[in-house]
Amino acid sequence: MSDIVRYDRIGDIAVLTADNPPVNALGHAVRVGLVTALDRAVADGARAVVLTCAGRTWHAGADIREFGKPPVDPWLPEVCNRTEACPLPVVAALHGTALGGGLEVAMGAHYRVAVPGTRVGLPEVHLGILPGAGGTQRLPRLAGLDASVDIITTGRHVPAAEALSLGILDRVAEGEPRALGLAFAQDLLAQGAGPRPTRDLPPPEPVDFDALYDRVLKKGRGQLSPATAVRAIQAACELPFEDGLARERALFNELMETDQRKGLIHAFFAERQVSKLPELEGVTARDCEHIGVIGGGTMGAGIATAALLAGLNVTLVEMSKDAAETAKGRIGGNLKGALKRGKITPEAFDHMMETALTLATGPEALTDADVIIEAVFEDMAVKKELFARLDQIARPGAVLATNTSYLDVNEIARATSRPEDVIGLHFFSPAHVMKLLEVVVADRTAPDVVATGFALGKALKKITVRAGVCDGFIGNRILSVYRAAADHMVLDGASPHQIDAALEAFGFAMGPFAVADLAGLDIGWANRKRLAPTRDPRERVPTYADKLCEAGHLGQKTGRGYYIYDGRNRTPNPDVLALIEAEREERGITPREFSDSEIQSTYLAAMVNEAAKVVGDGIARRPLDVDMVLLFGYGFPRYHGGPLKWADMQGLDKVLSKIRKLAETDSFFWQPAPLLEKLVAEGGSFDDLNRAVS
Ligand code: CAA
Repeated sequence: MSDIVRYDRIGDIAVLTADNPPVNALGHAVRVGLVTALDRAVADGARAVVLTCAGRTWHAGADIREFGKPPVDPWLPEVCNRTEACPLPVVAALHGTALGGGLEVAMGAHYRVAVPGTRVGLPEVHLGILPGAGGTQRLPRLAGLDASVDIITTGRHVPAAEALSLGILDRVAEGEPRALGLAFAQDLLAQGAGPRPTRDLPPPEPVDFDALYDRVLKKGRGQLSPATAVRAIQAACELPFEDGLARERALFNELMETDQRKGLIHAFFAERQVSKLPELEGVTARDCEHIGVIGGGTMGAGIATAALLAGLNVTLVEMSKDAAETAKGRIGGNLKGALKRGKITPEAFDHMMETALTLATGPEALTDADVIIEAVFEDMAVKKELFARLDQIARPGAVLATNTSYLDVNEIARATSRPEDVIGLHFFSPAHVMKLLEVVVADRTAPDVVATGFALGKALKKITVRAGVCDGFIGNRILSVYRAAADHMVLDGASPHQIDAALEAFGFAMGPFAVADLAGLDIGWANRKRLAPTRDPRERVPTYADKLCEAGHLGQKTGRGYYIYDGRNRTPNPDVLALIEAEREERGITPREFSDSEIQSTYLAAMVNEAAKVVGDGIARRPLDVDMVLLFGYGFPRYHGGPLKWADMQGLDKVLSKIRKLAETDSFFWQPAPLLEKLVAEGGSFDDLNRAVS
């Protein structure tokens, strides 16, 4: 027998302990171990069985690494069925996270107990699949329809107390899981209780599942797995148990074949891979307990909030007492949001505001800070002066970070006598909400300073991505190109509103013009002015948006931009169309029709092409780094995996042909990325590069 599942006999009770670090995933060896040990318990004359796991958690699911490979017996559904069919009462004793196949095995058992910190859930929809080992059939029998639809279609983790009240768990008690399981099994034996197969419980009454399916599909913004899971739950209510299992399996297999499944699993692993850099192996980060933040605007206050929420001490520097108080008000507002959502206690709020946060009116207050992050006006002269000053006052070894979005971090570093301590920490606004952090590594940044950037990102629970120095780093550099592609389509005949709608149909949370309205049209305006002096005359940059700004229409904050806003509702602004028409006329352009799919493929081609240049130039180390930037900073739909995963799934030759076709009319803008050409010539993929570098 495989020793991955240990067999112990405690009196009348057989205790099976799985030990497959780090998360006891139900890989092949564990499945074999479980069914073999169950048979042994019966043969051995045991009167009850306790299932438990060693280490930090109960089974956190099937082994995701086995997905896409041919299944090997015994499958997980069989493990669950054989557990349920065991003639002895089987108790699952849970701790940590009982997720996916983990919860399914527990539901195959006859009774479930857990320690208080346990969370249970069926998060398969986040991987583009549905629970495929009876979860959609057994959960409705235990927890009813509404709770099952909620748990299965959102994939949320359910705390033990709630799981107890829903009937998923039978007992929650303090203690060690194995002892808890044994105590429960002994109680069962004392009461003479036998097996209690979940399949024998009555299923919930059917409802209007077509309406439910439509609702869930709409909410998923194009994601298929939650809505498909509704059909499996429907089967639980309408079909005999075995037929329901067969239906679940058929739907599971269907989803397994989709690109959405591939995209979501890529995202799962890339999210964990992104902060693992070979160059940081064995490098120890410097201290990052005391954070200095210079500038208390939206960005500075957001960074300070994120640091306070992570339990760090923050000294916030503003120009004057009044400005510092205003910044404190912003931070207080942010933290109140966290308080309202139950993320922090009132005591923690008071501690953060009164003890962990210090206000100051000059950088001299930062002499003890471990990491100083400047979030002042985006102007090279201002930043250089500030860094020269910081060079004089910061303690030796302090990390000096700039939050610039575009400026040259090498030039900023040269304003100090310690360029090895200088780094870019590019947060995304609002910094206490957005999950992305770009760590911008300049030519002379020391490895332990890079490690500190990553350590800080981890403390702040950010997806932290390494970027090199260039205009816009990874994200904003790619954004400027796909945004330009959208602008070109507007000049040539599409409306901003049609483009937004097409991209929202692709799965983006918001189209680029709605995003511009949200950010403020003055940002793009300032950027266009900044780039104007060095702009190549062959670049096509529309001017109609400048006219909106000149008229004081800056997007959501003024109630009018590409759209007119009435509270949260938006309607297309007709003035924009008039301005666009006037510009087309001035440029002598005859507008043409664009289909939604042409808009999507052109926009994505621009994104992929620039992303490939960013990887080819070494600004991003791996394609997966770009994918994570676009997913966590720019609303790229997770179920497409990221632009480079999406490109792989489309076929790189297809994407390259599209770029070459577009180059026939604008060869300046559509210059194919050499890396893309090379991969197509060699028959390679971006995923090959991920594997090569990771
Ligand atoms: N299979 C394989 N590896 C897994 C895994 C799984 N189900 N879950 C986690 N891991 C790996 C991670 O990739 C990571 O590996 P590295 O250290 O090499 O990067 C390691 O375990 C630790 O994971 P985390 O870094 O995520 O640790 P955490 O403590 O932050 O989170 C967790 C733990 C909550 C369990 C989280 O890992 C998680 O959510 N895992 C996925 C759970 C899930 O989706 N389960 C359903 C699987 S699908 C299924 O079961 C199908 C079915 O119905 C038949």
